[in-house]
Amino acid sequence: MPRRLAILGSTGSIGVQALDVVRRRAGDELEVVALSAATDWEALVAQATEHGVGRIALADGDAAARASEAWTDGEVVSGPDGLVALVAESGCELVLNAIVGSAGLLATVASLGEGIDLALANKESLVVGGELVTQLAEATGAAIIPVDSEHSALHQLIGAERPGTIERLVLTASGGPFRGRAAAELRDVTVADALAHPTWAMGGKITIDSATLMNKGLEVIEAHHLFGTPYERIEVVVHPQSIVHALVQLCDGATLAHLGYPDMRVPISYALHHPDRVDVPVATLDLAALGALTFEPPDVETFPCLALARASGIAGGTAPCTMNAANEVAVHAFLAGRLPFAEIAAVIEETLAAVPVEPLRSFESLGEADAEARAIASAFVSDRAAAR
Ligand SMILES: NC(=O)c1ccc[n+]([C@@H]2O[C@H](COP(=O)([O-])OP(=O)(O)OC[C@H]3O[C@@H](n4cnc5c(N)ncnc54)[C@H](OP(=O)(O)O)[C@@H]3O)[C@@H](O)[C@H]2O)c1
Repeated sequence: MPRRLAILGSTGSIGVQALDVVRRRAGDELEVVALSAATDWEALVAQATEHGVGRIALADGDAAARASEAWTDGEVVSGPDGLVALVAESGCELVLNAIVGSAGLLATVASLGEGIDLALANKESLVVGGELVTQLAEATGAAIIPVDSEHSALHQLIGAERPGTIERLVLTASGGPFRGRAAAELRDVTVADALAHPTWAMGGKITIDSATLMNKGLEVIEAHHLFGTPYERIEVVVHPQSIVHALVQLCDGATLAHLGYPDMRVPISYALHHPDRVDVPVATLDLAALGALTFEPPDVETFPCLALARASGIAGGTAPCTMNAANEVAVHAFLAGRLPFAEIAAVIEETLAAVPVEPLRSFESLGEADAEARAIASAFVSDRAAAR
């Protein structure tokens, strides 16, 4: 029997690639039973029609109403309650959470709370509520299989080793489109410049996070929670070719690396089929053709977001939630032309300084912390716009 799969955020970059992975092996291992998006109801209905899916969710009520009018072959639900109901009532055995931003935390909690295994692309879930999320997974016995390419690599490398043998984790970073630039050269960069990622084709928010190096900061926190590794044992190295995805250093001096061309269908397929592996139509790695793989330290002075994220992870409690909310507000403002690229980090830093760190109590209190940080970060963005 195929495994019943729900894909949340199916109209985005990861979601579309996941449907491509499923399409190539239709009827074999996976059956898509539920899909969700925020507003793009036309694309969602087209996906549901193609894959014979009976239930869809749209975060936006107006989009859901339009989908209901246009599509009579299944059920349309809306809003946060609709998303939770979609997860709980579609009979899925595996959820791929490919929603962007902290909005994805609700779906993570709904899936793990139901004891449903989770293929997790939405790294913000672990950044915002890592301890509570991993405790919930332990309590219900649901597995979290990472989709992020670096964490997928680590999952594979660590899974092959005995407990107690891993000394350090090393995440690689492409360095983004502005690698090698000085801070002064970032003052006038445009949205188009920042969206021109050198090695990965991804959604807008993560592409900007890659340009600021925030993405790597979020991934350090993600790795801490996924693998229970202390922050001082998680390193970042810049590797512009994006061929080595991660490395683990072992107690006997050996270092193991995971390599492959940058293609998200590989870690998506791994997460959807784990513990099995299936064929994915990607080119065989040709190291001789690549010639050289290079590595350099991250420039944390020009790109302060990496250090801001790491510090918030070490501070713990609500600090990563505050940091993440401020980042989402600042990135959104940059994409909308209301904040210069070079001021994204400043808005995050100001917000972290203004919001006291509280202990992590519950998912509800995280929602409050997220809302408070968003309000404060938005005010800092407005102040900066007014001062220009
Ligand atoms: N793209 C990559 O290669 C990549 C790699 C590693 C990790 N990730 C992670 O995977 C996640 C998705 O990234 P992406 O690049 O695929 O993003 P994306 O292209 O922007 O797609 C985001 C998806 O989430 C939906 N969505 C947006 N806001 C939502 C909300 N408030 N509630 C419910 N659904 C919402 C969108 O629906 P609409 O289409 O209707 O807006 C869309 O389906 C992110 O956490 C990212 O960090 C991505």
